[in-house]
Formats: sequence, structure tokens, C-alpha cells
Amino acid sequence: VRERAQGDLLARFQEAWDELAEIGRNPEGGYDRFAWTEADRQMRAWFSRAAAERNMTLEQDRNGNLWAWWGEPGDGAIVTGSHLDSVPGGGAFDGPLGVVGSFLAVDELRSRHEESPPRAVAVVDFSDEEGARFGVACVGSRLMTGELDPDRARRLVDESGVTLAEAMRSAGVDDKLLGPDEARLSAITTYVELHIEQGRALADFDAPVGVATAIWPHGRWRLRFKGEANHAGTARLQDRHDPMLVFAAVVTAAREAAARHQCLATVGKALVHPNATNGVASSLQAWLDARAPDAETLNSVITEVRAAAEASANEQGVEFECYQESVTAAVSFNSDLRRRIVTLLGGVPEIPTGAGHDAGILSERIPTAMVFARNPTGVSHSPAERSSVEDCLAGVRALAVILEDLVWG
Ligand code: GLV
Ligand code: MN
Ligand code: MN
Repeated sequence: VRERAQGDLLARFQEAWDELAEIGRNPEGGYDRFAWTEADRQMRAWFSRAAAERNMTLEQDRNGNLWAWWGEPGDGAIVTGSHLDSVPGGGAFDGPLGVVGSFLAVDELRSRHEESPPRAVAVVDFSDEEGARFGVACVGSRLMTGELDPDRARRLVDESGVTLAEAMRSAGVDDKLLGPDEARLSAITTYVELHIEQGRALADFDAPVGVATAIWPHGRWRLRFKGEANHAGTARLQDRHDPMLVFAAVVTAAREAAARHQCLATVGKALVHPNATNGVASSLQAWLDARAPDAETLNSVITEVRAAAEASANEQGVEFECYQESVTAAVSFNSDLRRRIVTLLGGVPEIPTGAGHDAGILSERIPTAMVFARNPTGVSHSPAERSSVEDCLAGVRALAVILEDLVWG
């Protein structure tokens, strides 16, 4: 372990990155690493190996999150980590940077400290952070805090009708055990997550790393439009019940409402049935993602989009239904911890984000903090997402400084 830890940080970062590079990679160069799929299994197997190589004790908790322990698990643990799943066509960094970076930060600390740490340090891989397959984001951390009801979680279904319970079972997780994990939560003193920046503020600050201040409240809504299948070449326009028209109205209404309220609303996913070129669609499902600086603005946007959808649905004789899949309240990261970290790192920029994170879910219960590594592209949830190796390593070193202070300070 010691030899490994003393090896060159850059070489070890690249080694880990190469090990992950082909897992779940699609032909466009993006990553499809959805929860409880083969790609996810391989990512989790990598996590197990990373723990074993370091003689860290591996544990899978009741909600399928993976933990690698340095030191005796017990009260007062300091936890760091992120997630290894991805959105469809995701980038390489969102998630994996935090997990790889956590193992490397632990290596840094082990190269400096002969003895076991006075309080345990754990690296965690939260399961199903993106919610790409079953619709709800941060499933592992939400189950752990009790924010997601285990019965509801078990019944979530993917596009092929597989339930989350079945998917977890086939991956070797006993879904009967899902649920709040109070003992585990109360044994954690602090959680720190390293993550790629998902905008381009740090490039403007000319800073390799920054610290998160807050997460905007955000949510996901599933929209269903039911019309009537018909012949594209014969059905008169006035006789049609075309759900695609209502969908188009919703997409435009979301964009306009977001611009009016200076927030964000996106329709990034839609499923058309039966998806024929020469037919009026019979039904359509779409997902609306909306994020705003405060809950009131978020509500206004959703209300306005729904009103536009209902008006268009009436006009077209289409049935419309809107179901809230998840909503996450505003997160303000613990200010004492944040100040401590900013001071430790010598006054790095502090920036808010519109992206959701397990750190945001845990912040309801324990002090949490996030460190961002600069992403000059400003692009995320895309293969274009990028952080230079130097900035990734700046993130790892920052994480090591923070953990050292939290464990030994
Ligand atoms: C997670 O990355 C989210 O904000 O959707
Ligand atoms: Mn993400
Ligand atoms: Mn992420």
C-alpha cells in the first residue's frame, strides 16, 4: 500500500482513468452507465478492486451503496466519494472524478501517516445518483436518509418494465432491506464530495478548484399525452388528436417560462408511440426538468408550463397528465465547514450550482461540502465535459488537505 501510495499521483490517476475508460462507453464516446446494468456492475467491480488493493474494508450497505473503509468503522467517520453511474451519453468525469479522487486522496494521507487514522475514513460510491434508468435521482442517498420511501423505490420501473427491486435483486442486492440507515448516518461526522464543475465559473475566476455554496431547488415531472393514432396521408387536420402538437407547445412553454423567470427548464427526454413516420402519434411521454433559485419561482414555472399544456391539450382533443417524479429542496451547504475549507485552500472561489448531488441529499442530516474541479468547456452531461489532468489533481490535493484537517486537525 505504502509503495503504491508513494507512486506518482499523476501516474496513478491516469492508471485509474484508463481502467474505467472503456466501461459503458458508447460509439459516440459518451458513457451509458445506468444503475444495475452490466456497465454499472463493472464500475462497482472496479471500486471493489480499488478497495482491495488498498486493504480497505469493502462493504455494501442495505441500499446498495459501496463503502471502502480505512480504519475501524465507528462513530465520527469522515466520508468522501461520489457516484459511478451516468446519464445517457454522459461524460467521463461527472461522478467518477469524485470516486477516483477520493481513493487517491486516501493514498496521499496514507503516504503521510503511518498509523491508522484516529477516526475512520470511508470512500463511498452512492448507487443510482443520476436516476437515468428509474427516473428518481440520488436513489442510494435518498433511501439512506429516508427521503425516498423504500416501497416506492422498489416499484420504480425502467423503460422495459423492469422494477428497481428486480434490477437490484439481479445485481445481488436484497431489496427487502432497502430503507433508512440511521445507524450509518449518525456515525458520519462529515461528507465531502469532489466533483467536476458543471458550468464555467472557475475558468472565469482563473481557479483550478472552487467550493459549492448552494444547490438550486429542482425537480422532474413526467408528462403523458394521449391522442389518437391515424394515417398521415389521409386524416384531415381538423380530425386529428395529435399529442405531438401538445408536446411541442410544452417544450416552447418551458423555454419561455424559464427565460421569463431567469431559471432553467428542459425537456430532454421523450418517448413517442408508435413512432411511425407516416402516422399521427397515438401517445407520448416526456420529462420536464426544472431548476430555479427558489421554490416559489420553481412552482411558478411548473404552473405556467402546465397551464400551457392544458390549453393546448384542450385545443387538440388530447389527454394530458403531469406527475411529479421527484423534487429536491434548496440546499445551502454547511457554512462553518465551507469557511473552514475555503481558508484551508487559501481562499478559493465559492460558487452555487443547479446540479443535484448526493452531498445535497445528505446535507439535510450531516455537514457536507463539495469541491469543484474547473471545467473550461462549461459543458456537462455530455462527452464534451472535461477537466484537465492538472485540475483533477488539484481537486485530489484539495480533498487530501480537507480530509487531513477533518481527521487529524
Ligand atoms: C444530476 O447530475 C442532476 O443534477 O441531474
Ligand atoms: Mn450528473
Ligand atoms: Mn454527479
